[in-house]
Amino acid sequence: MPNRRKFIQLSIASLPLLASCQTANTNNTQIYKKPVVVSTWDSGIRANAAAWKVLQQNGYALDAVEEASKYAEIEKSCCVGLAANPDRDGKVTLDASIMDDKGNCGGVAFLQHIQHPISVARKLMETTPHVFMVGEGAEQFALQNGFEKMSDQLSPEAQASYKKWLEKSEYKPVINIENLTKPQSQTAPNVLENGKPNHDTMGTIALDANGNLCGSCTTSGMAFKMRGRVGDSPIIGAGLFVDNEVGAATSSGLGEEVIRICGTHLIIELMRQGWTPENACKEAINRIVKRNPEKAKDFQVGFIALSKKGEVGAFAVQKEFTYSITNNEINQVFESKSYF
Ligand code: GLY
Repeated sequence: MPNRRKFIQLSIASLPLLASCQTANTNNTQIYKKPVVVSTWDSGIRANAAAWKVLQQNGYALDAVEEASKYAEIEKSCCVGLAANPDRDGKVTLDASIMDDKGNCGGVAFLQHIQHPISVARKLMETTPHVFMVGEGAEQFALQNGFEKMSDQLSPEAQASYKKWLEKSEYKPVINIENLTKPQSQTAPNVLENGKPNHDTMGTIALDANGNLCGSCTTSGMAFKMRGRVGDSPIIGAGLFVDNEVGAATSSGLGEEVIRICGTHLIIELMRQGWTPENACKEAINRIVKRNPEKAKDFQVGFIALSKKGEVGAFAVQKEFTYSITNNEINQVFESKSYF
Protein backbone atom coordinates (compact mmCIF):
# COMPACT_ATOMS: atom_id res chain seq x y z
CA MET A 1 0.00 0.00 0.00
CA PRO A 2 1.02 3.52 -0.58
CA ASN A 3 4.08 5.00 0.95
CA ARG A 4 3.17 8.12 -0.90
CA ARG A 5 1.55 11.15 0.58
CA LYS A 6 -1.96 11.00 -0.67
CA PHE A 7 -3.74 14.20 -1.44
CA ILE A 8 -7.41 13.78 -2.02
CA GLN A 9 -8.77 17.03 -3.22
CA LEU A 10 -12.41 17.54 -2.49
CA SER A 11 -13.99 20.62 -3.82
CA ILE A 12 -16.49 22.62 -1.88
CA ALA A 13 -17.79 25.27 -4.21
CA SER A 14 -17.37 27.99 -1.64
CA LEU A 15 -13.77 27.02 -0.90
CA PRO A 16 -11.50 27.79 -3.84
CA LEU A 17 -8.34 25.75 -3.65
CA LEU A 18 -5.38 28.10 -3.46
CA ALA A 19 -2.89 25.94 -1.62
CA SER A 20 0.05 27.83 -3.09
CA CYS A 21 -0.99 30.90 -1.09
CA GLN A 22 -0.17 29.24 2.23
CA THR A 23 3.05 30.41 3.85
CA ALA A 24 5.78 28.46 5.60
CA ASN A 25 7.72 29.23 8.77
CA THR A 26 11.44 28.85 9.40
CA ASN A 27 11.02 25.11 10.10
CA ASN A 28 9.60 24.79 6.62
CA THR A 29 6.29 23.85 8.20
CA GLN A 30 3.34 25.21 6.33
CA ILE A 31 1.25 27.79 8.13
CA TYR A 32 -2.47 27.65 7.45
CA LYS A 33 -4.24 30.97 7.74
CA LYS A 34 -6.90 31.21 10.42
CA PRO A 35 -9.64 30.29 10.68
CA VAL A 36 -8.64 26.67 10.12
CA VAL A 37 -10.08 23.33 11.22
CA VAL A 38 -8.42 19.90 11.22
CA SER A 39 -10.12 16.54 11.81
CA THR A 40 -9.04 12.92 11.90
CA TRP A 41 -9.68 10.68 8.87
CA ASP A 42 -11.08 11.21 5.38
CA SER A 43 -14.55 11.58 6.81
CA GLY A 44 -13.16 14.52 8.76
CA ILE A 45 -13.56 16.56 5.59
CA ARG A 46 -17.33 16.41 6.13
CA ALA A 47 -17.03 17.14 9.84
CA ASN A 48 -14.82 20.10 8.85
CA ALA A 49 -17.58 21.35 6.55
CA ALA A 50 -19.93 21.47 9.55
CA ALA A 51 -17.30 23.37 11.53
CA TRP A 52 -16.58 25.65 8.61
CA LYS A 53 -20.13 27.03 8.62
CA VAL A 54 -19.26 28.53 12.01
CA LEU A 55 -15.65 29.49 11.32
CA GLN A 56 -16.26 31.24 8.00
CA GLN A 57 -18.58 33.67 9.79
CA ASN A 58 -15.82 34.46 12.26
CA GLY A 59 -17.57 32.23 14.79
CA TYR A 60 -16.12 30.70 17.93
CA ALA A 61 -13.87 27.64 17.60
CA LEU A 62 -15.79 25.91 20.41
CA ASP A 63 -19.06 26.11 18.45
CA ALA A 64 -17.21 24.92 15.36
CA VAL A 65 -15.68 21.81 16.93
CA GLU A 66 -18.98 20.92 18.60
CA GLU A 67 -20.73 21.15 15.23
CA ALA A 68 -18.06 18.89 13.67
CA SER A 69 -18.55 16.24 16.35
CA LYS A 70 -22.33 16.48 16.18
CA TYR A 71 -22.14 15.94 12.46
CA ALA A 72 -20.02 12.82 12.94
CA GLU A 73 -22.34 11.51 15.65
CA ILE A 74 -25.27 11.29 13.26
CA GLU A 75 -23.52 10.74 9.93
CA LYS A 76 -24.59 7.48 8.33
CA SER A 77 -21.18 6.64 6.90
CA CYS A 78 -19.32 7.47 10.10
CA CYS A 79 -19.16 5.21 13.08
CA VAL A 80 -18.93 7.22 16.23
CA GLY A 81 -22.57 7.67 17.25
CA LEU A 82 -25.55 5.58 18.25
CA ALA A 83 -25.51 3.73 14.90
CA ALA A 84 -22.02 2.38 15.65
CA ASN A 85 -20.95 -1.08 16.71
CA PRO A 86 -21.92 -2.14 20.25
CA ASP A 87 -19.89 -3.56 23.09
CA ARG A 88 -19.71 -7.31 23.57
CA ASP A 89 -23.06 -7.25 25.40
CA GLY A 90 -24.72 -5.66 22.38
CA LYS A 91 -25.03 -2.14 23.83
CA VAL A 92 -23.71 1.02 22.16
CA THR A 93 -21.79 3.16 24.63
CA LEU A 94 -20.35 6.53 23.67
CA ASP A 95 -17.42 8.66 24.87
CA ALA A 96 -16.69 12.32 24.09
CA SER A 97 -14.70 15.31 25.28
CA ILE A 98 -14.44 19.00 24.55
CA MET A 99 -11.93 21.69 25.57
CA ASP A 100 -11.93 25.43 25.05
CA ASP A 101 -9.34 28.20 24.81
CA LYS A 102 -9.58 29.03 28.52
CA GLY A 103 -8.62 25.60 29.81
CA ASN A 104 -12.23 24.60 30.48
CA CYS A 105 -13.00 21.02 29.61
CA GLY A 106 -15.66 18.34 29.85
CA GLY A 107 -15.78 14.62 29.17
CA VAL A 108 -18.49 11.96 29.24
CA ALA A 109 -17.92 8.23 29.02
CA PHE A 110 -19.87 4.99 28.92
CA LEU A 111 -22.91 7.06 27.96
CA GLN A 112 -25.91 5.28 26.45
CA HIS A 113 -29.08 6.45 24.66
CA ILE A 114 -27.89 9.98 23.90
CA GLN A 115 -27.40 11.12 20.33
CA HIS A 116 -24.90 13.89 20.97
CA PRO A 117 -22.44 13.02 23.74
CA ILE A 118 -20.28 15.95 22.65
CA SER A 119 -23.04 18.38 23.62
CA VAL A 120 -23.46 16.65 26.98
CA ALA A 121 -19.71 17.11 27.52
CA ARG A 122 -20.05 20.80 26.69
CA LYS A 123 -23.06 21.19 28.98
CA LEU A 124 -21.11 19.55 31.79
CA MET A 125 -18.17 21.88 31.14
CA GLU A 126 -20.28 25.01 31.05
CA THR A 127 -22.85 24.42 33.77
CA THR A 128 -21.23 22.29 36.49
CA PRO A 129 -18.05 22.42 38.59
CA HIS A 130 -17.12 18.95 37.24
CA VAL A 131 -15.10 17.84 34.24
CA PHE A 132 -15.92 14.14 33.81
CA MET A 133 -19.08 12.07 34.15
CA VAL A 134 -19.75 8.45 33.28
CA GLY A 135 -22.51 5.94 32.69
CA GLU A 136 -25.83 6.22 34.42
CA GLY A 137 -24.95 9.52 36.10
CA ALA A 138 -23.94 11.08 32.79
CA GLU A 139 -27.17 9.86 31.20
CA GLN A 140 -29.21 11.24 34.10
CA PHE A 141 -27.41 14.58 33.75
CA ALA A 142 -28.16 14.61 30.00
CA LEU A 143 -31.85 13.83 30.48
CA GLN A 144 -32.17 16.48 33.19
CA ASN A 145 -30.74 18.96 30.73
CA GLY A 146 -33.22 18.27 27.98
CA PHE A 147 -31.38 15.69 25.91
CA GLU A 148 -33.75 13.11 24.46
CA LYS A 149 -33.49 9.46 25.49
CA MET A 150 -33.03 7.45 22.30
CA SER A 151 -33.82 3.79 21.75
CA ASP A 152 -31.04 1.27 22.33
CA GLN A 153 -32.04 -0.63 19.20
CA LEU A 154 -28.91 -1.34 17.16
CA SER A 155 -28.73 0.04 13.63
CA PRO A 156 -29.33 -2.71 11.03
CA GLU A 157 -25.64 -2.64 10.06
CA ALA A 158 -24.43 -2.83 13.65
CA GLN A 159 -26.92 -5.62 14.33
CA ALA A 160 -25.54 -7.59 11.37
CA SER A 161 -21.93 -7.04 12.34
CA TYR A 162 -22.62 -7.92 16.00
CA LYS A 163 -24.34 -11.13 14.93
CA LYS A 164 -21.34 -12.02 12.80
CA TRP A 165 -18.92 -11.19 15.61
CA LEU A 166 -20.85 -13.39 18.05
CA GLU A 167 -20.26 -16.42 15.81
CA LYS A 168 -16.55 -16.56 16.60
CA SER A 169 -16.04 -14.04 19.34
CA GLU A 170 -15.69 -16.33 22.32
CA TYR A 171 -16.87 -13.16 24.03
CA LYS A 172 -13.37 -11.67 23.76
CA PRO A 173 -12.71 -8.11 22.70
CA VAL A 174 -10.87 -8.26 19.40
CA ILE A 175 -8.04 -5.94 18.47
CA ASN A 176 -6.54 -6.38 15.08
CA ILE A 177 -4.85 -4.20 12.59
CA GLU A 178 -7.57 -4.41 9.98
CA ASN A 179 -10.22 -2.95 12.19
CA LEU A 180 -8.01 -0.10 13.33
CA THR A 181 -6.54 1.23 10.13
CA LYS A 182 -9.05 1.46 7.36
CA PRO A 183 -11.08 4.57 6.63
CA GLN A 184 -14.80 4.29 7.03
CA SER A 185 -16.94 2.54 4.52
CA GLN A 186 -19.11 4.92 2.56
CA THR A 187 -21.93 2.42 2.36
CA ALA A 188 -22.23 0.52 5.60
CA PRO A 189 -21.78 2.28 8.91
CA ASN A 190 -19.37 0.55 11.26
CA VAL A 191 -18.72 -2.34 8.91
CA LEU A 192 -16.01 -2.40 6.31
CA GLU A 193 -16.56 -3.83 2.85
CA ASN A 194 -14.67 -6.92 3.99
CA GLY A 195 -17.17 -7.35 6.80
CA LYS A 196 -14.67 -6.34 9.50
CA PRO A 197 -15.73 -3.95 12.24
CA ASN A 198 -14.35 -0.47 12.03
CA HIS A 199 -13.00 1.32 15.06
CA ASP A 200 -12.87 5.02 14.71
CA THR A 201 -12.89 8.34 16.42
CA MET A 202 -13.64 11.80 15.14
CA GLY A 203 -11.24 14.31 16.65
CA THR A 204 -11.47 17.95 15.58
CA ILE A 205 -9.22 20.90 16.46
CA ALA A 206 -9.81 24.46 15.29
CA LEU A 207 -8.23 27.90 15.37
CA ASP A 208 -10.82 30.61 14.86
CA ALA A 209 -10.53 34.07 13.29
CA ASN A 210 -9.86 35.57 16.74
CA GLY A 211 -6.91 33.23 17.27
CA ASN A 212 -8.63 30.94 19.80
CA LEU A 213 -7.99 27.20 19.82
CA CYS A 214 -10.60 24.61 20.83
CA GLY A 215 -11.01 20.86 20.32
CA SER A 216 -13.51 18.02 20.47
CA CYS A 217 -13.34 14.26 20.28
CA THR A 218 -16.17 11.72 19.97
CA THR A 219 -16.27 7.95 19.60
CA SER A 220 -18.21 4.75 20.14
CA GLY A 221 -14.89 3.21 21.15
CA MET A 222 -13.55 -0.15 20.18
CA ALA A 223 -16.08 -2.42 18.51
CA PHE A 224 -17.22 -5.27 20.78
CA LYS A 225 -15.23 -3.94 23.71
CA MET A 226 -15.74 -5.33 27.20
CA ARG A 227 -18.70 -3.71 28.87
CA GLY A 228 -17.60 -0.56 30.67
CA ARG A 229 -14.38 -0.19 28.69
CA VAL A 230 -13.44 3.45 28.07
CA GLY A 231 -10.70 4.58 25.71
CA ASP A 232 -8.72 7.79 25.36
CA SER A 233 -11.32 9.99 23.65
CA PRO A 234 -13.17 11.36 26.70
CA ILE A 235 -10.01 11.72 28.76
CA ILE A 236 -8.47 15.17 28.74
CA GLY A 237 -4.74 14.93 28.07
CA ALA A 238 -5.12 11.54 26.39
CA GLY A 239 -7.53 11.84 23.44
CA LEU A 240 -7.76 15.64 23.49
CA PHE A 241 -5.78 18.56 24.82
CA VAL A 242 -5.81 22.28 24.11
CA ASP A 243 -3.57 25.04 25.42
CA ASN A 244 -4.47 28.36 23.87
CA GLU A 245 -0.89 29.63 24.16
CA VAL A 246 0.52 26.63 22.30
CA GLY A 247 -1.82 24.43 20.29
CA ALA A 248 -4.40 21.67 20.21
CA ALA A 249 -4.06 17.93 19.62
CA THR A 250 -6.35 14.92 19.32
CA SER A 251 -6.07 11.25 18.51
CA SER A 252 -7.67 8.20 16.95
CA GLY A 253 -6.90 4.51 17.27
CA LEU A 254 -6.27 2.19 20.17
CA GLY A 255 -7.09 4.35 23.17
CA GLU A 256 -5.30 2.22 25.75
CA GLU A 257 -1.97 3.08 24.11
CA VAL A 258 -2.78 6.80 24.04
CA ILE A 259 -3.82 6.84 27.69
CA ARG A 260 -0.56 5.16 28.75
CA ILE A 261 1.51 8.09 27.48
CA CYS A 262 -1.02 10.92 28.06
CA GLY A 263 -0.62 11.39 24.32
CA THR A 264 -2.14 14.76 23.50
CA HIS A 265 -0.82 16.45 26.63
CA LEU A 266 2.65 15.20 25.74
CA ILE A 267 2.31 16.62 22.23
CA ILE A 268 1.28 20.06 23.49
CA GLU A 269 4.11 20.14 26.04
CA LEU A 270 6.63 19.27 23.30
CA MET A 271 5.18 21.99 21.09
CA ARG A 272 5.55 24.43 23.99
CA GLN A 273 9.26 23.60 23.94
CA GLY A 274 9.45 24.45 20.24
CA TRP A 275 8.77 21.12 18.53
CA THR A 276 6.73 21.34 15.33
CA PRO A 277 3.29 19.69 15.47
CA GLU A 278 4.49 16.85 13.23
CA ASN A 279 7.63 16.17 15.27
CA ALA A 280 5.66 16.29 18.50
CA CYS A 281 3.13 13.78 17.10
CA LYS A 282 6.03 11.62 15.89
CA GLU A 283 7.65 11.60 19.32
CA ALA A 284 4.36 10.54 20.93
CA ILE A 285 4.09 7.67 18.44
CA ASN A 286 7.75 6.72 19.06
CA ARG A 287 7.05 6.42 22.78
CA ILE A 288 4.04 4.19 22.13
CA VAL A 289 5.99 1.93 19.78
CA LYS A 290 9.08 1.83 22.00
CA ARG A 291 7.07 0.36 24.87
CA ASN A 292 6.34 -2.74 22.85
CA PRO A 293 7.55 -2.71 19.24
CA GLU A 294 6.23 -6.21 18.45
CA LYS A 295 2.73 -5.48 19.71
CA ALA A 296 2.73 -2.12 17.90
CA LYS A 297 2.72 -3.97 14.56
CA ASP A 298 -0.85 -4.98 15.36
CA PHE A 299 -2.53 -1.73 16.26
CA GLN A 300 -3.05 1.77 14.98
CA VAL A 301 -2.79 5.11 16.75
CA GLY A 302 -2.81 8.44 14.91
CA PHE A 303 -2.36 11.95 16.28
CA ILE A 304 -3.10 15.34 14.74
CA ALA A 305 -1.95 18.69 16.12
CA LEU A 306 -2.48 22.37 15.28
CA SER A 307 -0.30 25.18 16.59
CA LYS A 308 -1.33 28.67 17.63
CA LYS A 309 0.38 29.91 14.46
CA GLY A 310 -1.62 27.59 12.21
CA GLU A 311 0.95 24.83 11.64
CA VAL A 312 -0.57 21.35 11.26
CA GLY A 313 1.12 18.02 11.94
CA ALA A 314 0.20 14.36 12.15
CA PHE A 315 1.87 11.03 12.75
CA ALA A 316 0.62 7.45 13.09
CA VAL A 317 1.85 3.99 14.00
CA GLN A 318 0.62 2.47 10.71
CA LYS A 319 0.10 3.73 7.20
CA GLU A 320 -3.35 4.81 6.07
CA PHE A 321 -4.11 7.24 8.87
CA THR A 322 -5.58 10.28 7.18
CA TYR A 323 -6.59 13.74 8.33
CA SER A 324 -8.51 16.64 6.80
CA ILE A 325 -7.65 20.34 6.74
CA THR A 326 -10.08 23.12 5.85
CA ASN A 327 -9.56 26.88 5.72
CA ASN A 328 -10.35 29.65 3.24
CA GLU A 329 -7.72 28.34 0.86
CA ILE A 330 -7.65 24.59 1.22
CA ASN A 331 -10.04 21.69 1.75
CA GLN A 332 -7.99 18.51 1.54
CA VAL A 333 -7.42 15.08 2.97
CA PHE A 334 -3.78 14.15 3.64
CA GLU A 335 -2.21 10.83 4.47
CA SER A 336 -0.14 11.01 7.64
CA LYS A 337 3.45 9.85 7.86
CA SER A 338 3.80 6.73 9.97
CA TYR A 339 6.25 4.68 12.01
CA PHE A 340 5.80 1.48 9.96
N1 GLY B 1 -9.67 6.12 20.35
C1 GLY B 1 -10.91 5.68 20.76
C2 GLY B 1 -10.93 4.55 21.67
O1 GLY B 1 -9.93 3.86 21.84
O2 GLY B 1 -11.95 4.31 22.26
